Amino acid sequence: MDRAERHHVTRGRALVAGVDSSTQSTKIVACDAETGQVVRTARAPHPEGTEVHPDRWWEAYEQATGDGILDGVSAVAVSGQQHGMVTLDEDDTVVRDALLWNDTRSAGAARDLTAELGGAGAWVDAVGLVPVASFTVTKLRWLAEHEPGKAARVARVVLPHDWLTGRILQQGNGFERWSTDRGDASGTGYWSAADNDYRLDLLERAFGRGIEVPEVLAPAQPAGRTADGLLVAAGTGDNMGAALGLTLHPGDVVVSLGTSGTVFTPHDRAIRDESGAIAGFADATGHHLPLMCTLNAARVLSAAAAMIGVDLAELDRLALQASPGAGGLSLLPYLDGERTPDLPDATGTLSGLTRSNATPENLARAAVEGMLCNLVAGVDALRDKGVEVGRILLIGGAAASRAVREVAPGLFRAPVVVPAPAEYVGVGAARQAAWALSGEQDPPTWALEIDSEHPARPGDEQVNAEVVARYRDLVARTHGI
Ligand code: XUL
Repeated sequence: MDRAERHHVTRGRALVAGVDSSTQSTKIVACDAETGQVVRTARAPHPEGTEVHPDRWWEAYEQATGDGILDGVSAVAVSGQQHGMVTLDEDDTVVRDALLWNDTRSAGAARDLTAELGGAGAWVDAVGLVPVASFTVTKLRWLAEHEPGKAARVARVVLPHDWLTGRILQQGNGFERWSTDRGDASGTGYWSAADNDYRLDLLERAFGRGIEVPEVLAPAQPAGRTADGLLVAAGTGDNMGAALGLTLHPGDVVVSLGTSGTVFTPHDRAIRDESGAIAGFADATGHHLPLMCTLNAARVLSAAAAMIGVDLAELDRLALQASPGAGGLSLLPYLDGERTPDLPDATGTLSGLTRSNATPENLARAAVEGMLCNLVAGVDALRDKGVEVGRILLIGGAAASRAVREVAPGLFRAPVVVPAPAEYVGVGAARQAAWALSGEQDPPTWALEIDSEHPARPGDEQVNAEVVARYRDLVARTHGI
């Protein structure tokens, strides 16, 4: 079999692969292109921190693919952490470490840019979102202001998934141009999902001069093909990848509890939210993906476990032993600052502590409730915009927690289903690869396996409403919002 054939035939069925290049690691899944069944997985870690040289992602990709996960694979796509600023010079050499979505140093730049354009409403009209430190446009402003020498060398800016996609093609001699997709482009702050077009005037306003941006590919349009025949699909942002991997239907709202907490749902039109809570992103199928993102989710539970001196399993057990409301304890989980609400310099707050409620059980419960209450705001913001919330799909590391599964329906006021544990971002990228390979109008139909279902308990409505109200009140009292 020659090299080109090797990628097209594996015992009669086509294989596709999805790469999830996330904040903490690279995870790869190889799937049956027809059914989506995962046949192989691989992973490699990324370094800690909120800035990283993109070469570290490439090294992790090489490590994860080192054991042959791509053997027999016909098509691949990359889903990456959104918003990261990868700056390249004329020769495509990386100018500085990429600033990631959770790096808050550009909070001041976000405030300046918001004011300069005439406020939040002007930004929402232009690109569907209100600048916060996460978005690429604010990182460009920060770079121009704080590192003018490096800024002067920048010829183009791409996102993490764009860079890795280009790198795969460069290595396979199939690279022609930098490209991205609607989903990831919609998180830059200089591309509008409503208008399907760049707003390069905003990029120029932020950076002080124009630079090159990647071409935005259509959902099933390939980015290229390597010399040995591997089709490389457009790729997308990680949340758009998860949406594709979960095969969502109208009314399905995803709450993802990973490094970031996100709430999102597929929608047929762009949502306009001047409060900035909901960003008007695009999805990876040609439609929209209104999304709220917090900086604090799964790691709130690990921090609480460390504080109590137990592991995550014990934290879970403790939280389930406490009563709803944690005996009056509330935790505002802004341990890494916060993005929604926009409080980049905030720290966490534990409130309501008395001698009688100061138990490990209540502390564990307050951590679970606080992490979830932070995301209730996103679900309610979608409801306020008239979006149907039929059921919540709970995914991400903290969805493994029994306490989280049991507490969530009451606080979200919706039934919760937990999909079978899987790398949904990678699976979504693989589904996009299968779609690009098929040349069909729509993505292939892949089934979603459900692990457990958790209806809301009507008897608990009152206590849950009180927990959410007390949390909101604490946010208002502590942060004046
Ligand atoms: C979404 C966001 C995060 C990152 C995490 O806007 O910033 O979910 O994509 O990888």
